[in-house]
Amino acid sequence: MRLLEISRPQPGRAPSDVVRTFVFMANLEAQEASGDAAASVTAEQVLTRLKGSAESDVALFALVDDTVTPILAPTGELGYGLLAATGSDTDVEVAGFLLISLPLLEDTDLAELDVTLDAQYLPLPGEKMDDQARAIRDELLSHGRKIAATHFDRRRFVVFTDVSEPAPPAPFRPAVTLTTTAMAVPENDVPVAADAVFLQGFGARSEYAPQIAELLSQASADIDNGELDLAPQSWDTRRLEEAAARLRDRGDRQLLTLLVQGGEVLALSEITLRADPTTQVAELGMTTTKRARRGRGLARRALTQAIARLRREYPRVETMYASAAGTDDASQALYAPYRPRTIDVARGWVATG
Ligand SMILES: CC(C)(COP(=O)(O)OP(=O)(O)OC[C@H]1O[C@@H](n2cnc3c(N)ncnc32)[C@H](O)[C@@H]1OP(=O)(O)O)[C@@H](O)C(=O)NCCC(=O)NCCS
Repeated sequence: MRLLEISRPQPGRAPSDVVRTFVFMANLEAQEASGDAAASVTAEQVLTRLKGSAESDVALFALVDDTVTPILAPTGELGYGLLAATGSDTDVEVAGFLLISLPLLEDTDLAELDVTLDAQYLPLPGEKMDDQARAIRDELLSHGRKIAATHFDRRRFVVFTDVSEPAPPAPFRPAVTLTTTAMAVPENDVPVAADAVFLQGFGARSEYAPQIAELLSQASADIDNGELDLAPQSWDTRRLEEAAARLRDRGDRQLLTLLVQGGEVLALSEITLRADPTTQVAELGMTTTKRARRGRGLARRALTQAIARLRREYPRVETMYASAAGTDDASQALYAPYRPRTIDVARGWVATG
């Protein structure tokens, strides 16, 4: 087996076969894990991620079987053979992919490693991962740690696995359980509250931008991440603008709902979804209340207003998804009235050194 790197995409060119293979495998895995066809990504979204952003960079690798046909590939900057992300490329037999995500603003000592195995190694629902698949996964994780440490100076490594998967090898230790739930959009009408303000794209260009940034900074410091030990994010107006631009780039839309009284933003709730008006699914993102105003039902009301707006603007959306740490009681309390159904449980592992 040989590890090859996938190059950066060239603007305006179509995704290569190897990127399409990655998308196919990632979607198969996501759908098997969640049982839901909506849990999928497109090749264009992957190309957008491969470009990197101000917030995080990525590197994508493929473990390929080159025993039958030796692969001729130019060597990239990291010392691995390069496969093109766009245009035509070499036909390769991929056993698994490794996506390394590198945060650039906070947690700059951390790398998230994400392994996607070829369909032949994916355990059938309810079955255990076999030894061969596990060996490929562990080989990719070991490459990932080495590459992230050597080339990107990372010292902490995070990996998420399905709860049914065997534990990744030492020194990885469990740090968080992440539960994804699906909820039906409620059918009842909710009147628009007098203090509700509806924005898009993080409200980056609105008069409330500085307060939105302040609320998001507080929320990221206070949210339950289990023992992942993530640094709080420090938001400002510029970061809101960059995040909004990334959303647009991905073809997504963010509905941001605020509760504002006397010019003060008390709470917010964000929902993201594909900009395509025919989309049927949406993701509940951050709901948060200003620290000094908590414990008075504001988060509940912000979420209710956000969902009512989603229903008005996107009547076709039927299902809402949300992810939260298993220990996050506040999220569970917030979502409980919408009768969440667990569709996926993942475990986050951390290794240092
Ligand atoms: C969690 C948070 C949004 C709650 O805001 P709030 O305005 O105090 O919440 P509300 O008063 O509207 O309470 C909503 C429900 O959550 C429950 N709740 C609030 N904080 C809680 C906590 N820390 N632990 C357990 N339950 C909590 C309340 O009891 C209430 O449940 P109930 O209606 O069944 O009684 C706020 O603490 C916060 O911004 N935290 C950081 C961001 C975060 O964790 N967001 C949640 C995930 S998106």
